[in-house]
Amino acid sequence: MLNLRVRSIVNEAVGINSFELVDPLGDILPPFTAGAHIDVVIPGGLVRQYSLCNDPRERHRYVIAVLHVVNGRGGSRAMHADVRAGDDLTVSLPRSNFSLIEEAPRHLIIAGGIGATPLMAMIERLEVLEAEYVMHYCSRSPERTAFRDRLADLVEKGRVVYHHDDGDPAKGLRVADVMQKYEAGTHLYYCGPPGLMEAVGRESSRWPAGTVHSEYFAPPPTVWPLGSTRGVGDEFSVKVASSGDLFPVPLNQSIVEVLRAAGIDCETSCESGVCGTCRTRYLAGTPEHHDFVLDDNERETYVMICCARASSEVLVLDL
Ligand code: FES
Repeated sequence: MLNLRVRSIVNEAVGINSFELVDPLGDILPPFTAGAHIDVVIPGGLVRQYSLCNDPRERHRYVIAVLHVVNGRGGSRAMHADVRAGDDLTVSLPRSNFSLIEEAPRHLIIAGGIGATPLMAMIERLEVLEAEYVMHYCSRSPERTAFRDRLADLVEKGRVVYHHDDGDPAKGLRVADVMQKYEAGTHLYYCGPPGLMEAVGRESSRWPAGTVHSEYFAPPPTVWPLGSTRGVGDEFSVKVASSGDLFPVPLNQSIVEVLRAAGIDCETSCESGVCGTCRTRYLAGTPEHHDFVLDDNERETYVMICCARASSEVLVLDL
């Protein structure tokens, strides 16, 4: 974990503040890649994940942007109400589950609202690479659109296109139209609210494997209620490879909960399958993946133990 100082807070749009975090002694910070996020320990003890939205070449600061969610769970409210310039915050090292495929010949980026944050770092990187890309940025109105100053030049060049819907999705981006323009070699990156994630996920389902990349802020409510990892699948057991110990995982507990009850330390953050913290290698068995982080290749090796179940009787973890 790092102790960083809030050097400045900028109101980027209605309800959205960005926070510039620096080392209190002016040291350089650990590097990050476009699409990475950090865990932030918020006053009151809550831990939330926020994407880094600044240029990954910058080593002197991390910048995050936070939308104040009025009926949220309290993290964004505390960030807006309780954090001031000069305060210190504890944050994790940057972690990435959402990576740019730098060698791709072209890139299609779809951002919805505060989902623009990881994608801002990506377009900074694409500009450095002089890559071919276009970013469609959906929001309710110009006043609710963060980073407009940073994006003005790219809007002028046609690389960033705004879509304001005034709260009526029918007036917003026609996802199907944009997705129909698929050309071989294009990679897609998207992040935004549930409706956008669902629409883009549906339209991209026929794209070639490995070309679609997304980041969820929270599990889709219709699929996986936030914070709920229970009541899915059958009972099974996890085996800890190093000790050979076998633990039953009942329907009402996650693997993490079972391991912790046995005194085994498990690092977690979101416990909802979206942050990537609990990634664990498995050696045998058939996991049922319920996360929103791992791609098909990674699922052959790793499992997110905060939310996964197993369809085999035993899942052997490389612990
Ligand atoms: Fe976030 Fe498991 S703790 S994915």
